[in-house]
Amino acid sequence: MCVQGGGQPWQNGAVTVAPDFLYGTAWKEDRTAALVELAVRMGFRGIDTANQRRHYFEAGVGEGLAAAYRAGIVTRGDLFLQTKYTYQPGQDHRLPYDPTAELATQVAQSMASSLEHLGTDRVDSYVLHGPASGHGWTDYDAEVWGAMARERDAGRTRLLGVSNVSLRHLQQLAATGAELPAFVQNRCFASRGWDRDVRAFCAQRKIVYQGFSLLTANLDVLRHPLVSGIAARHRATPAQVVFRFARAVGMLALTGTSDPEHMKQDLAAGALTLSDDETRTIEAIAG
Ligand SMILES: NC(=O)c1ccc[n+]([C@@H]2O[C@H](COP(=O)([O-])OP(=O)(O)OC[C@H]3O[C@@H](n4cnc5c(N)ncnc54)[C@H](OP(=O)(O)O)[C@@H]3O)[C@@H](O)[C@H]2O)c1
Repeated sequence: MCVQGGGQPWQNGAVTVAPDFLYGTAWKEDRTAALVELAVRMGFRGIDTANQRRHYFEAGVGEGLAAAYRAGIVTRGDLFLQTKYTYQPGQDHRLPYDPTAELATQVAQSMASSLEHLGTDRVDSYVLHGPASGHGWTDYDAEVWGAMARERDAGRTRLLGVSNVSLRHLQQLAATGAELPAFVQNRCFASRGWDRDVRAFCAQRKIVYQGFSLLTANLDVLRHPLVSGIAARHRATPAQVVFRFARAVGMLALTGTSDPEHMKQDLAAGALTLSDDETRTIEAIAG
C-alpha cells in the first residue's frame, strides 16, 4: 500500500491496516467524483464513504476512482476504501436494500451495491454507520455485526468497523463475545477530552480510532491562543496542528475538505513534529 502525506501508515505488526489520513466524501453531491479524483491526485490514499445516498454519493466516489485509475495515478491496490452499512432510519427514500428484508439480507444487498458503486470486488473496511439505539448495543446490532463478519469471511471486506459509538456500546459489544472491530469512527469533540474514554478502550485493544469533525466540532480550539501559538512556532495553520495532534494521540484523522490548498495542508500536517508538551497542552485544552 502506498504511503503519502508525510505520516506513517497504520501497522498491525507487519500488516498495513490503513494509510495515515482518510479523505471523507460526505455532502459533496455532484462534485463527489471530481473531488475524489482530485484528492487522489493530491496524495490521499484512504477514502471514506457510505452507501447512504442522503449524505453520500457513493457511485460518484466510484466515478472519481475510475478516473484516477484511467489517468494512471493509482491502481486499486494502492488505495484503502472504506464504506458503511446504514440502518433505514439513517437513510432517505434512496435505499440500497429491500427494507422489508431481514437485516442480514440488507447488509448483503448494501455491500453488493457498494462494490458495484466503487467498481471493486472487495473494500478494505466495512463500517456499521451507527448502532440501532443511542443507549446501547442491541440484538439488531448483533445481527448486523454477524452479517458484516460473514461479508468479511466471504472476502468482500478486509476489515470491519463501527461508528458513532459510546464506550457503553463498545463494552456491550465486547460482552457478547463477538469479535471486536478493527476501527471505531467517531465525531471527536475536544470538550469531551477528544473522546478520551472511547480512545482508551480502543488503545487497549489495538482498535484504530478514526476521528471526524476534528475541525468543525472544535472551532474554539482552532481559535485558542495556545493553538495559534503552537501553529506559529511550527509555521503551520491551526488546522494542521489539530490534525497532527490527532495523529500524535493515536487517531486516524478524516478530512472532507473541498479545497486543493487545504488538501495539501492536511496531508503535510503529518510531517510536523509536535513536542510531548505541545501534545499534552492540546489534549488538555478543553476538558
Ligand atoms: N460516521 C459518520 O457518521 C460520519 C459523520 C460525519 C462525517 N463522516 C466522515 O468524515 C468526513 C469528514 O467530515 P468532517 O465532519 O470531519 O468535516 P468536513 O465536512 O470534512 O469539514 C471539514 C471542514 O474543515 C475545513 N478544512 C479542512 N481542512 C482545512 C484546513 N487545512 N484549513 C482550514 N479549513 C479546513 C473544510 O473547509 P474547506 O472545504 O473549505 O477546506 C470544511 O469546512 C466526511 O466526509 C465523512 O466521510 C462520518
